[in-house]
Amino acid sequence: MLKFDDQMTRDFIALHEFDAISGQLKVACRELDQRTCPGSDYTGWLDLPNRDNQEELIRVQECAQRLREEIDYLVVIGIGGSYLGARAIIEALSHHFDAHLSEDQRSGPKIVFAGHQLSSDYLYDLIELLRGKRVAFNVISKSGTTTEPAVAFRVLRDALCRDVSEEIFRKRVIITTDRQRGALRRLADEHGLETFVIPDDVGGRFSVLTPVGLLPVATAGIDIDELLDGAASFRDQEAQEAEFLAKPAGRYAAVRTLLVRKGYTTEILGCYEPSMRMFTEWWKQLFGESACKDGRGAIPLGVDFTTDLHSLGQMIQEGPRKFFETIISFKKAHHEVTIPDDGTNLDQLQYLSGTPMSDVNDKAMLGTALAHVAGGVPNMSVTCEKRSAFALGELIYFFERACSLSCLMDTVNPFNQPGVEAYKSNMFALLGKPGHEERRAELERHIAERRIR
Ligand code: PA5
Repeated sequence: MLKFDDQMTRDFIALHEFDAISGQLKVACRELDQRTCPGSDYTGWLDLPNRDNQEELIRVQECAQRLREEIDYLVVIGIGGSYLGARAIIEALSHHFDAHLSEDQRSGPKIVFAGHQLSSDYLYDLIELLRGKRVAFNVISKSGTTTEPAVAFRVLRDALCRDVSEEIFRKRVIITTDRQRGALRRLADEHGLETFVIPDDVGGRFSVLTPVGLLPVATAGIDIDELLDGAASFRDQEAQEAEFLAKPAGRYAAVRTLLVRKGYTTEILGCYEPSMRMFTEWWKQLFGESACKDGRGAIPLGVDFTTDLHSLGQMIQEGPRKFFETIISFKKAHHEVTIPDDGTNLDQLQYLSGTPMSDVNDKAMLGTALAHVAGGVPNMSVTCEKRSAFALGELIYFFERACSLSCLMDTVNPFNQPGVEAYKSNMFALLGKPGHEERRAELERHIAERRIR
């Protein structure tokens, strides 16, 4: 069961400060659960652990099984909410050196990602890697019009599918998109491609428990039932506790909101397991795109510990006193490595002889939290049993709920992202996309005046 702890924020928040926020939390919970909040059309993620669309889940499993048997590589093409969740779960739960294992050490296809940036060199190298291999593409885009995945799919299709028969193309391209709209829906209909639906009421960054995340995750051999069980278990846990401030997601939302209001402008999410690096990327998008609007919200920063203690540790300990920190941890390692005996003690580590590595990591975690708190950085922790699909499901639902509640307490619509359009409109204008002529002229004037190169 997931545990949330905020003991190490006590020096930074007085008890009476919870009085005012508890009322705001109660209202936020009611608005979210009764779906009367701003953006309520996008609260379908609350129900995803119910597995209402059983027929689609079975198709996801069957498609994943087929891909596991037939292909060498699955290329997941998507950006933002259409890729981060799948990548986070796959990296969190796969062998650390998956890409380097030999064929008999691993099972199922390798999963690679594309369409999450516009690098020419990245696509060139990917094509080089994939040529001559058995490749499938899962193209994921709710709008079906996002530039990065559309460009990647066009390039990869041209390079790798030009000579394949219509039958193979049909087997190798799987589309995850809107029920009715968009270019991908039209392509799927034209070629009779297998498609999965992103529900209308689920936005991109809340979509990891739909086929957006489930298909790539299942293709990687991860148990999606266990993932959904974890999300359902956390949802039920949160529903059970009586006091709003005793519910883990509610309390996390309340504490972080209080801290942000007191001037702690940057939240650090960290973990002492390197495979969780992409999970912090998923979390960064969740909070960055949901909560940072109208000049409000905390800057989300992801760290890998202890690695980043040797790069950002100084800044966290003694830099601007604007940080608060949330640490994800797991109670058990999958495999325990013990520090061996070495009587020469040249490395001065003999005092650790026979100590499990997990104990060393745990002490690093505790020592760091104590040091950071002493240095003025409030600390919270989220602990799960072990790094498993179940725990990832719990964490996803915990953070999605906490993020939504944080936004609502701050009177921010959690489910839109108006600011994302600004770069797109400039990029389209500069690229000469029809319909953007006026903006292009404005930008050209601006560039000339400021001598921007
Ligand atoms: O959270 C979001 O809505 C965004 O991050 C989108 O997922 C991202 O922009 C990709 O959009 P689409 O799935 O329409 O290609």
